[in-house]
Amino acid sequence: MRRFVIIGHKATTSGSFKLDDLAGSTGRLDILLRCINSAFFLSHDIRRDAEVYLILLGPPNPPKTLKFVGAELKYLNPDERSTGALVRNALMQKVITEERCSPGIYASNRSYSDVLTIISKDSQLVYLKEDGKDIREVELPKDVSFVLGDDQDLTYEEEEMLMNYSPLKISLGPISYHADHCITIVNNELDRRLIR
Ligand SMILES: C[S@@+](CC[C@H](N)C(=O)[O-])C[C@H]1O[C@@H](n2cnc3c(N)ncnc32)[C@H](O)[C@@H]1O
Repeated sequence: MRRFVIIGHKATTSGSFKLDDLAGSTGRLDILLRCINSAFFLSHDIRRDAEVYLILLGPPNPPKTLKFVGAELKYLNPDERSTGALVRNALMQKVITEERCSPGIYASNRSYSDVLTIISKDSQLVYLKEDGKDIREVELPKDVSFVLGDDQDLTYEEEEMLMNYSPLKISLGPISYHADHCITIVNNELDRRLIR
């Protein structure tokens, strides 16, 4: 399993946004939608061995976590607008613990800290950071979870929380990439290892 945890520092936690304004009033939800696309889409298939956690920290009701499970996903299309509609639907659900909003999409009020606790039980955490160790020099286990920022890096507090789990700190190169591009690069690196 490959898992991606993306922190949406300002991403909306309300389902009342307009699909025509995904990059405007949503706290850059568009970045997170592109991350979903990069995590799951192959040319003619969906990656069933992938999961994504979007941690939404914007107003009005943070935190909210949306979990996408590749093995269960249906109705996911490569355009941002239709994924935006799935996210909007998930944010409109009344959530008690964790609710399944559509096949493969779950909403909860879990925090970043809760998510780290859950995923660290059975996977190695990886902090994606420009100054980490080159991914090409690191052995990665089969079950691995990558944590990255959206258009902002992790805050000091978020970084400290992650460090409690002794993550591998891994770089994709010295240049800073968009979050969705980082996910594409990681997927490619992992795919090459599987084929070898
Ligand atoms: C768009 S970047 C965040 C802001 C960016 N660091 C800047 O200076 O503008 C999004 C996230 O992708 C990850 N990232 C970007 N480039 C990376 C790289 N070369 N190696 C590892 N992670 C990277 C980091 O987790 C970063 O927080």
